[in-house]
Amino acid sequence: MVDIVIKEGKIVTPTDIYEADIGIKDGKIVEIARNIEAKAEQVIDASGKYVLPGAIDPHTHMELPFMGTTSADDFEAGTIAAAFGGVTTIIDFAIQPKGKSFMDTIEIWRGKADPKVVIDYSLHVAVTDLNEERMAELSKVLDYGVTSFKLFMPYRKEGLMSDDGRLYAMLDASREHRFLVQVHAENAPVLEYLVEKFLREGKKTPEYHALSRPNFVEGEAIQRAIYLAHATNGNLYIVHMSTKEGLVAVAESLNKGFPIYAETFPHYLVLTEEKYYGPDGRHYVMSPPLRSRADIEVLWKGLASEKIVTVGSDHCPFNSEQKAMGKDDFTKIPNGVPGTEVIIPILYSEGVRRDIITINQLVKFTSYNVAKLFGLYPRKGTIAVGADADITILDPNYEMELSVENLHTKIDYSIYDGMKVKGVPTTTICRGKPIVLNREFVGKKGEGQFIPRSRFTGL
Ligand code: URP
Ligand code: ZN
Ligand code: ZN
Repeated sequence: MVDIVIKEGKIVTPTDIYEADIGIKDGKIVEIARNIEAKAEQVIDASGKYVLPGAIDPHTHMELPFMGTTSADDFEAGTIAAAFGGVTTIIDFAIQPKGKSFMDTIEIWRGKADPKVVIDYSLHVAVTDLNEERMAELSKVLDYGVTSFKLFMPYRKEGLMSDDGRLYAMLDASREHRFLVQVHAENAPVLEYLVEKFLREGKKTPEYHALSRPNFVEGEAIQRAIYLAHATNGNLYIVHMSTKEGLVAVAESLNKGFPIYAETFPHYLVLTEEKYYGPDGRHYVMSPPLRSRADIEVLWKGLASEKIVTVGSDHCPFNSEQKAMGKDDFTKIPNGVPGTEVIIPILYSEGVRRDIITINQLVKFTSYNVAKLFGLYPRKGTIAVGADADITILDPNYEMELSVENLHTKIDYSIYDGMKVKGVPTTTICRGKPIVLNREFVGKKGEGQFIPRSRFTGL
């Protein structure tokens, strides 16, 4: 007797697509066979649908205190939205408050997340206050199961920035201690100079957010971070890469045989900087900003050639009232947009359907590669006997508009309004429990678990 059998779906792994049933018991996959005869408490018919390993969103900011407010989705709303997008695990950023230890930071975030998450989660530490004491704490944090650290090259005013010396120190330590250094790469002095210049000139509308962060601001910072990774032989992951300049820098390193891991997001794959000139320009303010059509094409090529290895979301939504804090000054618009729910629909509709990427690559970018890089594999990131039963059933014929009514983030608008997708997750199962069943939420607040991760071993 098993708990669930998923019948007749097309199972997708990074290398194969094959038709089989999946048996689930006590949260684990216990059998994969052409025809499972065992009795089951629940049978889920997946005929005509794809069965994918649950997506792992490596980049979210639930209830993040930021720029004078807090991101609008708490861990409950944010993980419900994630589940509707076929995500079964998020890795959120625990942002170190000044003066606090890394372990204190993790405890603060666990206090917010544990009672609310409806799917599994883990944490990265976002380092804002690095010193000798914190460096000495690294082993403890790694043993606890937090094995990746984000450093911000910009956000000086917000108190988040790390200088190049600190970035060097973390990259250097990442080799010996086997962790991953995630970098938000933007050249702070240049963008600050441009921001000040525009403000002096009275140029305060949302497009100046993008104009103060031109492509080279990201490209130069990515090059610099890669240079430091080479110098230290460190483990570098570029978060939210948005430009062709960034991809060129990553490709140069890959050509030299030095791995750099790059991540991008759905909004950089389908939206352009023209949005800043529209009436809701401030809704699209995030860092780095939206780019040109040419960048979009290059990012898709980066995915097709697997120079970009993960697609997350940077889910950090603010409602229209919060965005209006910057109605007279773009520097006061809280930076961030939603996204966890649209990763798979956008990659499938815009990537797989258009033959730019394969569905096997979609599985790599959203699940397998993330699990490998962030120490969740083989527990997660795969459909195999013994793995957690984290499963997304994708209906390739399900059509949906990405309107505010159809999305589950708490905010009162959609940055994808008017955009239609075909191919949507309809059922999401986390550790053997259905969370979304035929587009109905059936999960429970607090049933997700904190998942400790192993140290970095590469891809
Ligand atoms: O605009 C963004 N990306 N907001 C969230 C914080 C970050 O930099 O990832
Ligand atoms: Zn960032
Ligand atoms: Zn982020």
